[in-house]
Amino acid sequence: MSNVRFDPAPALKGEITPPPDKSISHRAALFGAMSDMPVTISNYLYAEDTISTLNALRSLGAGVDEQEEGLVIRGVGLTGALEATGGYLHVGNAGTLLRMLPGWLAGQGRGMWTLDGDESIRKRPVDRVLEPLVAMGARIEARDDRLAPMTVHGSQLSGYEHHLKMASAQVKSCLLIAGMTADGETSITEPFRSRDHTERMLRRARVPFERAGNCVKVRQVDELELEDITVPGDPSSAAFLVAAACVVPGSRLLVNGVNLNWTRTGFFKIAQRMGAVLVGDLEDGPATEAEVPESEPVGELDVAAAALEATVVEPEEVPLAIDELPLVALLGAFAEGETVVRGAGELRVKETDRIAGVVEGLRGLGVDIEATDDGFAVRGGGVKGGAIDARGDHRLAMLGAIAGLASEDGVEVQGMEAAAVSYPSFEDDLRGLLT
Ligand code: S3P
Repeated sequence: MSNVRFDPAPALKGEITPPPDKSISHRAALFGAMSDMPVTISNYLYAEDTISTLNALRSLGAGVDEQEEGLVIRGVGLTGALEATGGYLHVGNAGTLLRMLPGWLAGQGRGMWTLDGDESIRKRPVDRVLEPLVAMGARIEARDDRLAPMTVHGSQLSGYEHHLKMASAQVKSCLLIAGMTADGETSITEPFRSRDHTERMLRRARVPFERAGNCVKVRQVDELELEDITVPGDPSSAAFLVAAACVVPGSRLLVNGVNLNWTRTGFFKIAQRMGAVLVGDLEDGPATEAEVPESEPVGELDVAAAALEATVVEPEEVPLAIDELPLVALLGAFAEGETVVRGAGELRVKETDRIAGVVEGLRGLGVDIEATDDGFAVRGGGVKGGAIDARGDHRLAMLGAIAGLASEDGVEVQGMEAAAVSYPSFEDDLRGLLT
């Protein structure tokens, strides 16, 4: 385990491009593997999670070649041609892979695959995809009916009207993929909108689907005609640098090439509301309900440190900022008043219980914060310093690092290597911005 110290920083200055988007990289590789024709992906994220995806796709028979023009995926087609033997798929720490892949495997009509992963993945619920897939005719077994390892038998699926209890892009994506192999129509209704990269990818792959409000519908298709893809910078990774620039006095940072899809920019809007000086072409919410664009908007963010005020984050904002909520806690620690996050119970089933990890971690650094069932409340007063355990969670490791830069006495992050799950060059990038 690597313990790394982050001392109080004078200011962050300069320009930076965040690493490629993790969510879009997973989807680009998976959709490439489902296509009949080769697809070239430029700017693919080579981090632990998205390398797990490439390994899984190789085991399933897809060609995965790193070439000069980008990552070339030679797909096996949507159904029927998947490697059915030796089907043990190790997803590592990648929850997105664990949830999306069964959606493809379940409708293969033949074959059997077992999905498993690391210690953290074995604690993350899969009943959220298992139950709706079974309702479509899938045959799946999981430990205690809700945990990995899980075994998926390829079956013939039928369309189904799904009503999700929680907004989850992973579950929605799994069911959209399953819906492409199922007889009839599959519809998925979420309580709130979640990230829409899969829908945009469906558009790029010429798969017809409909969206009305929080409901999206897809029908069986024979094949995907996916165009080549360029992955934009990850707003969730960029958010750590943006948060650092917000809380370290005197900072001024330009973040380039970042995905500004409105379903991912919730944190930037929350930060603006708290008084952060953050300028960028954030995409507006859905222009018309019926239209989902095929492209991902890319732009820059110009951020400067400023005085912050507390805010309340409401449940409908949560899916649009889900991975950045730990950073809302950090901004709250530097804001005047009490910042509250509500309706974020999903944080309890992320790479770790992120409500416990954030609250116990930041409290250990002297932050005035407490947990609620579905979120937390934090009061301004700053970060004193000390040590924080990343608990094997990449986002907690990076949170600790940023807290250290803004602290009075510095922070030691125990288990900094976890950052490599999504942002392998995090520490170098961050240190490169310190003046
Ligand atoms: C993701 C969706 C989110 C997010 C995760 C990646 C995705 O999970 O927390 O890091 O790529 O679809 P849920 O949609 O399950 O909340």
